[in-house]
Amino acid sequence: MSNHRLFRSRMYRLTIVSTVTVSMILFYVSCNTRIRVTQQSATCQSNGKEQFQENDTRGTRQEDVRVLCFVTTSPANINKKAVHVKETWGKRCDKLLFMSSENNYSLPAIGLNVSEGRDSLWLKTIESLKYVHKNYRFDADWFIKTDDDTYVIVDNLRYFLKDKDSSNPIYFGRKLKRYVQQGYMSGGAGYVMSREALTRIVEKGFHNKSYCPDVELGLEDVYIGKCMENLGVLAGDSRDEESRERFHPLLPELVLVPGLIRNTSWFWFYNFYKPGAGPEYVSPMSISFHYVGPNLMHVMDFFVYQLKLPGLELHPDGKSILLNQKAGV
Ligand SMILES: *[C@@H]1O[C@H](CO)[C@@H](O)[C@H](O)[C@H]1NC(C)=O
Ligand SMILES: *[C@@H]1O[C@H](CO)[C@@H](O)[C@H](O)[C@H]1NC(C)=O
Ligand SMILES: *[C@@H]1O[C@H](CO)[C@@H](O)[C@H](O)[C@H]1NC(C)=O
Ligand SMILES: *[C@@H]1O[C@H](CO)[C@@H](O)[C@H](O)[C@H]1NC(C)=O
Ligand SMILES: *[C@@H]1O[C@H](CO)[C@@H](O)[C@H](O)[C@H]1NC(C)=O
Repeated sequence: MSNHRLFRSRMYRLTIVSTVTVSMILFYVSCNTRIRVTQQSATCQSNGKEQFQENDTRGTRQEDVRVLCFVTTSPANINKKAVHVKETWGKRCDKLLFMSSENNYSLPAIGLNVSEGRDSLWLKTIESLKYVHKNYRFDADWFIKTDDDTYVIVDNLRYFLKDKDSSNPIYFGRKLKRYVQQGYMSGGAGYVMSREALTRIVEKGFHNKSYCPDVELGLEDVYIGKCMENLGVLAGDSRDEESRERFHPLLPELVLVPGLIRNTSWFWFYNFYKPGAGPEYVSPMSISFHYVGPNLMHVMDFFVYQLKLPGLELHPDGKSILLNQKAGV
């Protein structure tokens, strides 16, 4: 089989996940790596246009961005879900913690004094934030909260955060509207807060009901969003320069293949920015996807971090360039 045909048949076999991730790896990551390594001004081709990257003198290097990940789980899900987070994306966090209602020292999972169930989700989040603040607030600059069925591309999270200042009161995620004026971040897609945001919510918010209303709200993400707004913590915009989202509250296939999200889905009514499905709405520098079960977690990990296309380089417009036309197989 010629290389070209091999490539085509291979491309068809690959899932949508790979299309996104391959372009991510081969283009953006390599491009950005070059910029980081040289620490000089550099240019990257994008959509046939030259994009000038300014010298990054103020920003932190991507690898120096310290991220603590805390994952909400439960005793029943330790072996079903949490271990798969640890085996895949979780190991790339500077610090990884699982928030549960029972201790498990090998994971490690923290046994918070909360009952399990949807209704106590917000209480679990409050206790998690207190725990992280008390024990780890100086060990990271940014703190991301996710579920145990969220897949995070931690390197893209670092890339996104590298020129942001964690002493600003800000947090990022998939911004939704309603309930909170400035918008709030979807819980399932995960949200990442600066150290200043963490400090404010724990030291100020949880001690004063005028910031964080003491209500039995089942909607954990709305509750946190309200606190953040009351505390002057900005709900940041995490879309890329082409307005594509980086945090995804649904399965990869739902956000990448148009027509799969029901017309009546909350998705069409709750997004802060104009929602859509298809690659043009999904940033190639995406950070998270929700509803990723254990198997898909391992699949995504392979496509993002291990899949290689020897002899091929992606053209900025997404088409392939065969570097060595003569190399038959
Ligand atoms: C970037 O740094 C190089 C080398 O120090 C310098 O020549 C160039 O003018 C700088 N570019 C910008 C946009 O600051
Ligand atoms: C604790 O976590 C480990 C995985 O790290 C798991 O094998 C073990 O079953 C867990 N223990 C309990 C009591 O859930
Ligand atoms: C756990 O929470 C309950 C209810 O808030 C409280 O009464 C109890 O003292 C707490 N236990 C510990 C060990 O903190
Ligand atoms: C709670 O916050 C409000 C608004 O900032 C403030 O007026 C009030 O004094 C605070 N209460 C306590 C007990 O700190
Ligand atoms: C959803 O809306 C589109 C466009 O209005 C329409 O073509 C399609 O039939 C609708 N699908 C369902 C399941 O209602």
